[in-house]
Amino acid sequence: MRIRESYVVKLGGHVLIDDRGKIRKKVFSSYVDLVTNFWREGVSIHTVVGGGRVARLYIELLAALGAPKALQDLMGIEVTKINAKLLTYALRTKGVNALFKDYLFSVDQPGDSIYVMGGVSPAQSTTAVAALLAETIKAVKLIVATDVDGLYSEDPKKNPQATLLRRVTMKELMEILKMESEPGSYKLIDSVALQVIARSKIATHIVNGLNPRNIEKAIRGEEIGTLIAP
Ligand SMILES: Nc1ncnc2c1ncn2[C@@H]1O[C@H](COP(=O)(O)OP(=O)(O)OP(=O)(O)O)[C@@H](O)[C@H]1O
Ligand SMILES: [Mg+2]
Repeated sequence: MRIRESYVVKLGGHVLIDDRGKIRKKVFSSYVDLVTNFWREGVSIHTVVGGGRVARLYIELLAALGAPKALQDLMGIEVTKINAKLLTYALRTKGVNALFKDYLFSVDQPGDSIYVMGGVSPAQSTTAVAALLAETIKAVKLIVATDVDGLYSEDPKKNPQATLLRRVTMKELMEILKMESEPGSYKLIDSVALQVIARSKIATHIVNGLNPRNIEKAIRGEEIGTLIAP
């Protein structure tokens, strides 16, 4: 079998689902086309999908009911799995050999299959799952596709004056991203993901996935978003 180049994309829930909880159909179908076209070229893009607004709605309701945080996380994970299954189905209709996986132990060298995953366990984000998947299958690169243009000096939604950084070291990345571990708010890259990226020196690229062309640019090694020097 031909050796395929593998990439892992963390497709942010905020990319797939808007603030009202609606699926962004155009973004979704361009992403499906992107993965399909690369697959036909012999490049595999494995995807871990986030939960976005819908997951956070469940988490908010459960929090109001006094549910333990682990249960809030598990409910959010269910949403990420539905999102991943939707993507798996859409890819399969295009003839892509996409397989939904719900835990990492069942992941080995993928051959020509494309893995699609959601969350796996409480207290870690889907970005952590994406980093672990990239580590497991020895992906060329991890691409974090989110709803902002890359890593900023601080959260650009809180401070519009924050500046976009084009290249940062792991140390700088860790300093900028203060560790958050509340269900539904493992912002951008959580501590588990950071540790996995650091220990396996995974080349990581943060891009704005609302335009899936940016993901294509990251795969083709073009200048886009923020590069993390491992
Ligand atoms: N230094 C930073 N640079 C860029 N974004 C940041 C930074 N700090 C916090 N953020 C926030 O992180 C958000 C992206 O992470 P968030 O977890 O909200 O979305 P996601 O991971 O794309 O979606 P999901 O978690 O549903 O999969 C951005 O919208 C931004 O507000
Ligand atoms: Mg997130």
